[in-house]
Amino acid sequence: MAANVVRDLAPILEAKFGLRGRTAVITGGAGTLCSVMAQGYAQAGANVILWDIRQDALDAAVRGVADACGNPAQVAACRVDLMNEASIAAGVEESSKTFGGIDILINGAGGTRGKSPLIEAKLEDLEFVVKLNLFAGCLLPTKHMAKYWIENGIRGTVINIASMASFNPLSGVWAYSAAKAAVMNQTMAHAKELAPYGIRVNAIAPGFLVAEQNRSLLLNEDGTMTQRGKDVIAHTPMGRFGGPDDLVAAVIFLAGEGARFVSGITVPIDGAYLCQNI
Ligand SMILES: NC(=O)c1ccc[n+]([C@@H]2O[C@H](COP(=O)([O-])OP(=O)(O)OC[C@H]3O[C@@H](n4cnc5c(N)ncnc54)[C@H](O)[C@@H]3O)[C@@H](O)[C@H]2O)c1
Repeated sequence: MAANVVRDLAPILEAKFGLRGRTAVITGGAGTLCSVMAQGYAQAGANVILWDIRQDALDAAVRGVADACGNPAQVAACRVDLMNEASIAAGVEESSKTFGGIDILINGAGGTRGKSPLIEAKLEDLEFVVKLNLFAGCLLPTKHMAKYWIENGIRGTVINIASMASFNPLSGVWAYSAAKAAVMNQTMAHAKELAPYGIRVNAIAPGFLVAEQNRSLLLNEDGTMTQRGKDVIAHTPMGRFGGPDDLVAAVIFLAGEGARFVSGITVPIDGAYLCQNI
C-alpha cells in the first residue's frame, strides 16, 4: 500500500507543483535571493525571464540559471528600470513575446539604504526606499502585469517579497519597515481586487539572509558577526541565518496549481523568528 502511494506521488506532484510550460518574470532577478529562486523555478520546469537594472549581474544570473537547469533555452533577461513606469510597461510588452506569454510574476526587487536614528533620517533616503520597495518592488509591476493578464484572459499569479519588518518594524530602517508592511497590506488588497479574474497574489516574508543589501549590517569584513547579526541569531529560535535556497520550495508551492485556492497570504520563512518570546 505504502509503495503505491510513493509510486503514484510523482505525477501528482508534477501536476500540482510542477511549473513545466509556464513562464515567470522575476524582478530583481540578478540579485542574491531572486537569482536562486529563478534557478529553482527553471529546475521545476518553468521558463524564466530575469528583470533587473544591472546588465552585468543579469548576464551572470542567466548563466547561473542555465547551469542549474541544464537548458539555456529556458532563461532570458530583460533590462528594466522598475523606478520608471514606462520601462516596466515596455518590459511586460517585450517579455510577453519571449516565450509566448507570462504566467507568474515574482516581485523581488527591493532593498534599503540609510540606516539611522529617526531624528537623523534623510527625506531623500526615505523617499527612495519607499519608492523602491513599494512602488517599484510591488505595486507598479503588478499593475502592468495584471493589465496584461486581464486583457489576455490569463489566470496569472503574483508572489511579493515581504520581510520580518512587515510584521514588526526593524530598528533604524524606517522607510524599509513602512514599505514592507505596505507590501503585505497590498498583497491582500491586490488578491481581493484581482480574484474575479482568476489572478492570485501572495507573498513570502524571508527572515534574515545574508545578501548584498544587508551584508555589512550583519557581518564584519572578516566574516564575524556584527552586534546586529548576533542580535538576529539570538532572536531566531533555529539559531542561524537563512539561505536563498530556503525560499525556493515556498515560491514553487505558491505558483503551482496545487495552491489554486490560496491568495492574499504572506508566508514567513524565518527559522521561527516571529515566534520568539521570553
Ligand atoms: N536578504 C534578506 O535577508 C532579505 C530579507 C527579507 C526580504 N528581503 C527582500 O528580498 C528581495 C531580494 O533581496 P536580496 O537580498 O536578494 O537583494 P539584492 O540587492 O541582492 O537584489 C535586489 C535586486 O534588485 C535590483 N534592483 C534594484 N533597483 C532596481 C530597479 N530600479 N530596477 C530593476 N532592478 C532593480 C538590484 O539590481 C538587485 O539585483 C528584496 O525585496 C528584499 O527587500 C531580503
